[in-house]
Amino acid sequence: DQSLRGLAARNGLYFGTAVDAGAYADAADPQYKSTVDGQFSTVTAENAMKWESLEPTRGTYDWAAADAFVAAAARNHQLVRGHVLAWYSQLPGWLTAGIQDGSIDGPQLRDLLHKHITDVVAHFRGRIWQWDVVNEAVSDPWETPSAIHLGGNAGSLKQKFADLLGPDYVADAFRWARAADPKALLFYNDYNIEAFGDGGPGDKTQFVYDMVKRLRAAGVPIDGVGSQGHLSTQYGNYDVLAVADALDRFTGLGVAVAFTEVDARSLTKDAKDPALDAAGQDVNARDQASAYNYHVLLQACLMNPHCLSFTVWGFTDRHSWIPGWFKNPPEGAGCLWDAGYQPKKALRTVQGDL
Ligand code: XIL
Repeated sequence: DQSLRGLAARNGLYFGTAVDAGAYADAADPQYKSTVDGQFSTVTAENAMKWESLEPTRGTYDWAAADAFVAAAARNHQLVRGHVLAWYSQLPGWLTAGIQDGSIDGPQLRDLLHKHITDVVAHFRGRIWQWDVVNEAVSDPWETPSAIHLGGNAGSLKQKFADLLGPDYVADAFRWARAADPKALLFYNDYNIEAFGDGGPGDKTQFVYDMVKRLRAAGVPIDGVGSQGHLSTQYGNYDVLAVADALDRFTGLGVAVAFTEVDARSLTKDAKDPALDAAGQDVNARDQASAYNYHVLLQACLMNPHCLSFTVWGFTDRHSWIPGWFKNPPEGAGCLWDAGYQPKKALRTVQGDL
């Protein structure tokens, strides 16, 4: 079996992708579905399990898209990563509005989050392998270089969410999830934690490490750390051993690790000259740099027996969140297959590594 899932299985690894529900259901684009079904042994709903998708109207759940996703995974013998429970982004409009205008206070938000986690985890009980229980709770060094903390920029939704809930919400979220499905593996998930920096007060990886260590010491049911792995070739390259070291330090705390949202984007094509990207590099060099970033993360994962899965955040440049999200400067071309489902260097590199 030369599929990614077959090659990964020989290494004791699950290979996954995020799934765009619209593309999966689009009969005019059959290669999307056949690739999801054939290449991957674990899947994550790109948006269908987010709070805004499950409870668009307060008090009324809409499980249809998420249930269809989980049913398709079962048919394909794929394990599901549940994404996501406690996160400040992609909350329903009614909830974001209430946080922003102050009509939902701290105790109310805490009750809403408790109910959300309990209802959602119970709904899918027994069908989720890993849950991203808390996502992106920690500030970035470029926001607050000298003091990483729970939250984000002053005044941001990320900060308001953290302030309203108070610091104990992280531990509570894990406890609520465990109570609703004792068998699911419970993860803390974040980006820019692929490697340690200087270990100082502006080191996000160090902050997450210290947080997980405290949670474990307090008996909080956290089973894993998800490193998203959204890399950009414009920021240079990581080193395999630096990434492997970060994974080793996390697994040294007694938790598993996983790469949960890997992509490796680049500055994209200058419309005037399709052979050149915005920085004037040729496309071949760009694809090679992207492939190298996949290689670094995958090798580090393969070196650690507790690295359970390697999930890419979309697999084709035809359906990728990157161009819609990273516009200034424009980035793209972050996936394993190009927009016409042709294999890129990154795909051949990953196949070779497995
Ligand atoms: C992204 C999706 O890919 C987009 O379709 C959506 O518009 C925004 O969210 N970190 C996460 C993911 O944890 O949920 C995000 O997914 C990408 C960054």
